[in-house]
Amino acid sequence: MVMPHMSNLLGDLFGGNLMAMVDQAAAIAAIRHAGGRAVTASIHRVDFRERIPVGALVTCRATVDFVGNSSMDITVEVTSENPSTGETRNTHTAHVVFVSIDEYGRPRRVPRLIPETEEEHLRYADAERYRKEHAHP
Ligand SMILES: CC(C)(COP(=O)(O)OP(=O)(O)OC[C@H]1O[C@@H](n2cnc3c(N)ncnc32)[C@H](O)[C@@H]1OP(=O)(O)O)[C@@H](O)C(=O)NCCC(=O)NCCS
Repeated sequence: MVMPHMSNLLGDLFGGNLMAMVDQAAAIAAIRHAGGRAVTASIHRVDFRERIPVGALVTCRATVDFVGNSSMDITVEVTSENPSTGETRNTHTAHVVFVSIDEYGRPRRVPRLIPETEEEHLRYADAERYRKEHAHP
């Protein structure tokens, strides 16, 4: 729940706090897939579509959509719920890259990603295209 101390001067969730939630959700997805530690390598894009007011319930759903050798492309979808009415809005989408690391902080190979459902295949194809268009130098 968005508490007053998480808000900006307008009484909505501060963007930096939203980013922290997104980063944490992506970290959990990355660590689960990698089976070990992982770090944020880049936050490619965050679309702030709507403001989230104090008192709203925030849910971040992170999916690993594509993997390289040690890197993982992750999408985080954020929804905001008004607990009084149950109304839910899709407020933000973020694209994040995490890299799996070993105990010395060196990139570590991650398991292959095998999409199974139609949604996973679509996400895989989208992420593969996105990676080609935004290749890390
Ligand atoms: C991310 C990090 C581990 C990469 O280490 P590195 O020695 O530069 O790694 P490499 O150049 O060999 O690249 C390793 C992988 O990371 C990817 N990568 C590295 N930097 C990246 C970036 N900025 N954006 C996207 N991918 C990146 C590479 O494409 C490569 O992917 P692949 O293994 O799937 O082919 C290192 O830069 C690091 O530790 N950065 C700090 C992370 C951090 O502090 N995060 C915030 C706290 S969690």
